[in-house]
Amino acid sequence: MAIEVRIFDTTLRDGEQSPGCSMNLQEKLEVARQLERLRVDVIEAGFPIASPGDLAAVKAVSENIHDCIVASLARALPKDIDHAWEGVKAADQPRIHTFIATSDIHMQYKLRKSPEQVLEQAVEMVKYAKKYCADVEFSAEDATRSKPEFLYRIFQAVIKAGATVINVPDTVGYTTPWEIYELISGIKNNVVDIDKVELAVHCHDDLGLAVANTLAAYRAGATQLECTINGIGERAGNAALEELVMSLATRQDYYDATCRVDTTQIYRSSKLVSSLTGSQVQANKSIVGANAFAHESGIHQHGILANQKTYEIMTPASIGLAENKMVLGKHSGRHAFEDRLSSLGYHLSKERLDEAFNHFKVLADKKKLVVDGDIEALVQQKAVDIPATYRVERFVINSGNTITSTAAVTLSNGDSREEVATGDGPIDAAFMAIDKVVGIEFELDDFALHSVTEGKDAQGEVIVKIAKDGQLYTGRGLSTDVIEASVKAYVNAINKMIDELKQAKEGQSDV
Ligand code: KIV
Ligand code: ZN
Repeated sequence: MAIEVRIFDTTLRDGEQSPGCSMNLQEKLEVARQLERLRVDVIEAGFPIASPGDLAAVKAVSENIHDCIVASLARALPKDIDHAWEGVKAADQPRIHTFIATSDIHMQYKLRKSPEQVLEQAVEMVKYAKKYCADVEFSAEDATRSKPEFLYRIFQAVIKAGATVINVPDTVGYTTPWEIYELISGIKNNVVDIDKVELAVHCHDDLGLAVANTLAAYRAGATQLECTINGIGERAGNAALEELVMSLATRQDYYDATCRVDTTQIYRSSKLVSSLTGSQVQANKSIVGANAFAHESGIHQHGILANQKTYEIMTPASIGLAENKMVLGKHSGRHAFEDRLSSLGYHLSKERLDEAFNHFKVLADKKKLVVDGDIEALVQQKAVDIPATYRVERFVINSGNTITSTAAVTLSNGDSREEVATGDGPIDAAFMAIDKVVGIEFELDDFALHSVTEGKDAQGEVIVKIAKDGQLYTGRGLSTDVIEASVKAYVNAINKMIDELKQAKEGQSDV
């Protein structure tokens, strides 16, 4: 019988805490809903002690997700565990995930504790978490650089204290497939009652081995695989969910594993996460990169036409990538548009469908052929609604290679206000004018432009990140005109910032 594997997704915790990947509450909720559609087993929703925003997001995910376990992270400390429980207590299937470091270097320099003290703290905190929650995961941070004998002792002790899941993290991405195979085998052979709990593995990608190490750990007996969409995460990231799941599915003959993930939701999940975090997927990325199913060379194309299996080990359809690249145009009706959306996996409410259709009509007027990539970009731009404090009414730019660029931008927030500014190029000038209207101090942290589809009339997508008080806000703008896309993205980021500042203020006055 095939071995059942549980997929633990930590996009909203390990992924979100990585630089430049932060999301607001609505965005996290949208990702959680997509993870539920993807049918992961566990969603790690956040680290509630880290900030009030994290706590609120874990609460929101717990209240809205019903078909997955929702996990909440805590150091092995009472106040962390109190917060973790506060976040997750409303979940249908709550889990507290607590961790403490077990390697000599972490215990000596970070925790300044002896191994005996660490062991005692781990046991006490698992017992503490157990008072709140039946399902408690224990992680030995930096396990792969810890002494195996110490791991055996601490794991045995926390199992006795009630832990239901034992996790072996390769926190710094240091291990190799052969070593982690040995380590997991050692744990299986030396820890009493290890077969009564779930054995998990959590690998980072510092040496590019996160997926290989996770699969090796699975071969040695780990049945919960921790990962993130697109492999986002601390530093070089975590094991990529899409690579793990498609490895297991494509090489079922070798791995003999089953999991409940609906692989046809993979592409959509990847798109959503890259769009909301502004963290683009490289073109040659396995499974979800733009070139993952593109066959450029003549020999390959010839083979594919003769028989797809010559050069394709999995089908685009298996990850939810529509093979039939139907094209819509300005004469396409609402029915054709809705049909296309549904075959791309989007089932929108009537209001969202009306809005998307209106945007589609505007786009089809500017662009002869509207392809799947355009439609997805349109829908994902609206994946999360945030109150639009400012709307772009109009802008006029005067620019050239021999003059200083000047921009006049009119924004409305009830009243219209126009400002004029000069800048180093048209986009800089437009941003300066917007700054004058908004009158809030912040910094531009990042600006990226890429085309959504091909051709001269392709839509440009701009991702802008702005920073205020150490917090990043990501804005997205889409247009066939790159200046318009930039202005929209900048205003979108500003609206997000204003919305969160407002919420933070309201939160303070509630206290
Ligand atoms: O990488 C790590 O060690 C972690 C733990 C908190 C599980 O993310
Ligand atoms: Zn991690």
